[in-house]
This record gives sequence, C-alpha cells and structure tokens, in this order.
Amino acid sequence: MSVHKDIALDEVRKFHQDTLPDGRFVPGTTEIWPAGAVLDESDRTALVEAALEMRIAAGPSSRKFESRFARKMGRRKAHLTNSGSSANLLAMTAFTSHLLEDRRLRPGDEVITVAAGFPTTVNPIIQNGLIPVFVDVELGTYNTTAARVAAAIGPKTRAIMIAHALGNPFEVAEIAQLAEEHDLFLIEDNCDAVGSTYDGQLTGTFGDLATVSFYPAHHLTMGEGGCVLTSNLALARIVESLRDWGRDCWCEPGETNKCLKRFKYQMGTLPEGYDHKYIFSHVGYNLKATDIQAALGLTQLEKLDTFVDARRRNWRRLRDGLEGVPHLVLPRATERSDPSWFGFALTVDPEAPFKRAELVDFLEDRKIGTRRLFAGNLTRHPAYIDAPHRVVGDLTNSDIITEQTFWVGVYPALTDEMIDYVASSVREFVAARG
Ligand SMILES: Cc1ncc(COP(=O)(O)O)c(C=O)c1O
Repeated sequence: MSVHKDIALDEVRKFHQDTLPDGRFVPGTTEIWPAGAVLDESDRTALVEAALEMRIAAGPSSRKFESRFARKMGRRKAHLTNSGSSANLLAMTAFTSHLLEDRRLRPGDEVITVAAGFPTTVNPIIQNGLIPVFVDVELGTYNTTAARVAAAIGPKTRAIMIAHALGNPFEVAEIAQLAEEHDLFLIEDNCDAVGSTYDGQLTGTFGDLATVSFYPAHHLTMGEGGCVLTSNLALARIVESLRDWGRDCWCEPGETNKCLKRFKYQMGTLPEGYDHKYIFSHVGYNLKATDIQAALGLTQLEKLDTFVDARRRNWRRLRDGLEGVPHLVLPRATERSDPSWFGFALTVDPEAPFKRAELVDFLEDRKIGTRRLFAGNLTRHPAYIDAPHRVVGDLTNSDIITEQTFWVGVYPALTDEMIDYVASSVREFVAARG
C-alpha cells in the first residue's frame, strides 16, 4: 500500500475525530430527525479510500457488496442499482421480458398494489403500460391484508407489488401463497424493511423479486443506491440485462470473453459472430451504482445488525412511552412479524379535540421532525388522477392516513433521552388539548 495513502487515511481518521458533534442533547434545540444516515469513521475512510483509488464506476466493490448482501439476505443474487426506485423499475420491468415467454406481462395486465405508500412502488407498473389495482390498508399496521388482495384478484391480474409499510411486514407468507395459487408474480418492495421478519423468515425472501433502497433514510446507506434481490437465476439475468443497457452479454466491465463465445453468437437478424458485448436482448437502462457507493455499502453492512437492534429498541421505547395516550392510533406490528422499523406512525383520531396539523406544529417547534406516510392516498395526487387504474373496495383508511397520519423517527442515531422527549412532548400536547 502506498505510504501516501496510509498518511492520507490517517488524516481522514483524525479529521473524523475532530469534527465529531459533541453529542449533547438539548431538548427543544437539538434536532431530532425522523431519519438519517448513521456514518462513522470506517464509513468516511472507506469513501475516501475508494475516491483515492478513483474507483469511479461499478467494479469489484460493487460485486463484493452484491455477493455479501445477497448472502446476508439469504438470496442467491443481489443487483446493485443507483436507487431503490430504480430497483423497483427493474423488478417490475423484468416481468415484461420476452424471456418469460407466455408468462411475460403485457400492457393492460393488472398488478395489485396499495393506494397508501411511496410513489415509486407504483410508478413502474404504470411506466410499463400495466394497470395498478389499488386496495386499502389497515390503520395501525399501515399494511394491506391477504384478504383484501384476494378480493382484488381478477381475470387480468398477473402480479402483486407491495411495500412493507415503514418496516412493518405485510402478510407476506399468505400473499405469496395467493400468488402461487393464481400464478402471479410477487415483488416485495423491501426498501424500508431490511432485517424485518415474518414467521421468522426475512422479508425480501418471499417474493420472486425484492427491492432495497440505500438512500440515507434507510437501514443501510450508500448516499444513493438500491438493489434487486432474487434466488431465481433466470430473473436475475433479466434484471442484470435491464440494468446494464439491455445487453445480452454478462461480462463485467473490463472483462471481454468470459463465455469464450464472444464472436460466436447469432441473434436477431445480426450477422453471425457479431460482438456479444454489443448485442442487446432487452430495451434496457443504465441504472448501475458506482464502487464509491459500494465501498460505503460494505462498511455499512458490517453494522446492519446493530442498526436493526437500535431501531427495534427505539420503537419499543417510544411505544411504551406512549401507551394509553388517548386520541391517537398507536402503531402495531403485523401478527407473526418482527419488524425492523423504519419509522413510528401516529394517526390522530378524526374525533380528537385537536388537529394533526396542531400536533405536528407543536412537535416541529420542539425540533422533533415529522414526516407524512409518504404520499398518503396516491390516487388523490395530480400524477395519478388521469393515470389508468382500478380501485377494489374503498380507500377509506388511505384517506384517513392522508388526512390524519404522520410519523416520527426511530433510527439508530436517536438516543433514549431523545425518544423520551418525543414521548413526553406528545403526552404533554395531548394532555393540554384532551
Ligand atoms: C417503500 C419505498 N419504496 C421505494 C423507495 C424509493 O427509494 P429511493 O429513494 O432509493 O429511490 C422508498 C423511498 O424512501 C420507499 O420508502
């Protein structure tokens, strides 16, 4: 190793120590963010090291991250992407591949999803000319149920794509069972739920494909990033092709003839022996991440278990601290699940003697950050009003979420003192208004 690199990285470690915040918590002054990256000295050093080595594109660190993350998640393959939204786009698009022959999804086919959630769980359905079929969710778990999904299955249904809400698993075993019985594809949007389990099994391992986000708010971060998980090698190959410009070849950048048949293919109407590196079997994208991102992912991955424990501990402490508070629906884990929580949702009872806006303002004035449950009812947003879709049942709870729900943080950087301050602030507000 270069002596200059050693010196540079030593300086980075010193810089890290010099710039550490003092860690003092001043109630009402210190920001209590709802979410954020938790980055330590090893993360900073890994980032600088990757930059020093100018690993500016996808390469060995990306491959290493993919194989370690796949192993950690109990899947055979992980494909790193530049965001969770890109992972969702790849996952949905994979099911339109001609390689799936009769099972491929075609424009007009229907995909069951939920109305209350994050837009890019739903967008890839529309972007592929498919029709989202929206079902409602429950208050408290913020997930839909297998019964609601079953009721939405019709002759055109071909797939189900649902996110585990704020880390809380939906009834994924039952929904996977429904998918199997009706020959439907299942995508788990696991962007907010890395480390959650249902029936003791990790979420992200039930569906044909699952997606993850590595945006700073999430359980692990690379700044921007995401991945698609699967144990189905045929689907993995489709995802990789779509991610990498649509190419047919699977050589890594820098490799040239791994299959030893580079000039021996004939595909489409191309001339015999056309360079396989430039044969395109899908109308693809370039949604790769870089090795600089992957270097950060690798150091973050070492801390995943501690992050998940901290999220669970913080959620439990806040839940206990708010037990019995009137006029609020407190969150609850889906039965048989152990969530790796993303956030802590609160719904103000529509009959409460105060409004959500008043409680949110009170908390925000105390520097307690709040967020909406993402889009709330997506069908009410300008982007979706004219987009083709179908609704099965009503969206009463999605509307209540739009009007009455918000969430606060449980991410690992929050301390017991902060969590207690959030709980006592909510209690103080409700006691004064109740
Ligand atoms: C459920 C869900 N899916 C997808 C995404 C998109 O992830 P990204 O921001 O990495 O594109 C998010 C983002 O927070 C999300 O919450």
